Amino acid sequence: MIERSLFPPLTAGIRRGIEDLLLAIDKTFPLKRRFSAELPKNISRLSALLTKERSCLNGSYMSDPALFNAYLRCFMPWNVFRLSRLLPSLLLESWPPDGTGGVEITDLGSGPLTLPAALWIALPELRSAPLSFHCVDQNGGALEAGKKLFFSLAGGNGAWRIKTYRAALGERLKLPPAALVCAVNVCNELFQKVPQGDTASLASAAKKFTRSLAGFAGDSGRILVVEPGSPRPAQFLSLLRGEFIGRGFSIEAPCPSSRGCAMGGGRRGQKWCHFNVDADDAPPALHKLSTAAALPKEKVTLSFLFASKKAAPEKNAPEFLNVRVISDAFPLSAGMTGRYACSENGLTLLRGGFAEKYRQGSFFKIERPDKITRDAKSGAFILTL
Ligand SMILES: C[S@@+](CC[C@H](N)C(=O)[O-])C[C@H]1O[C@@H](n2cnc3c(N)ncnc32)[C@H](O)[C@@H]1O
Repeated sequence: MIERSLFPPLTAGIRRGIEDLLLAIDKTFPLKRRFSAELPKNISRLSALLTKERSCLNGSYMSDPALFNAYLRCFMPWNVFRLSRLLPSLLLESWPPDGTGGVEITDLGSGPLTLPAALWIALPELRSAPLSFHCVDQNGGALEAGKKLFFSLAGGNGAWRIKTYRAALGERLKLPPAALVCAVNVCNELFQKVPQGDTASLASAAKKFTRSLAGFAGDSGRILVVEPGSPRPAQFLSLLRGEFIGRGFSIEAPCPSSRGCAMGGGRRGQKWCHFNVDADDAPPALHKLSTAAALPKEKVTLSFLFASKKAAPEKNAPEFLNVRVISDAFPLSAGMTGRYACSENGLTLLRGGFAEKYRQGSFFKIERPDKITRDAKSGAFILTL
């Protein structure tokens, strides 16, 4: 069996990097007294806006000093933490791409440059690589603040070049073809006006956004979209996935195959593809701030899609079954443990040793079983060890 983990433990260096980010935020944007006492309240207010009250959201929180301050001190560092759990497993082995020239990275909805900061922290191996970032956002103030913050974190930008573009997504922008195109925590804002249950409009938004993401990618470019791990963003990602496959992209992660998505959410009771990651390793000061805002975090959740214009041949070996573990462990009858997973046979229920051995996010290959047995309750294909 071959095993790879999506969420390897955070290294001491990455943990220190996130602490350094908090220090850089305090140094670059000292907290004004009038915001200090109100910070937890503003974090709660922004959290409500970004989740339950999405329909009243119009991106203006980035222009409201109190809410932007809440974003910068709480939401951005948690987003960096979330990305830091994921980026090493996606990029460490394959980056920077071959070639002697610079490597272009386009980040759509970049806000305060969360993605460049996360890459700096999570992949110190890349700090001397000639990366050029093209950070696009409708909010020029957030981009400017992000640039200041990044230079403070990185002590200058070293080999990295950062260009910002104040522009709306979908606006025509002439950018160099990118090796990596990212959109992190931004899809949610693209479909906020689509009514719940209106799958046709959601699919049309996904088609449009795929066209835009693909248009920024170079010949062997990759696309990374990350969203909070709740049902609607996961449904949107599942639709994006279908669009990318339709355009000939391969899905590098999290999907174990390019067959239909088994966890597309969307319908009541249908499982949606997301991961819960332990938040223990996040800085104590960040935990303290979230707790003060009545938003304590034991775990962070995320859904994502990592697609590539290049084919991924190793996934197609016919004698093996590819499996990605999606859920935490749960008890089954007769003292057994179970976990949900995704495989080429669709929704998969791991039982016994499989569920105990592998963790959420693990990817493994096993010899393809001869017989397909399905769970009567969930319809999941059963794998027992
Ligand atoms: C939740 S923030 C995410 C920021 C950053 N990527 C992160 O993960 O922390 C969403 C960002 O998308 C930007 N945004 C939303 N809709 C946009 C649009 N139509 N065009 C350009 N930027 C947009 C907002 O201004 C905001 O900075």
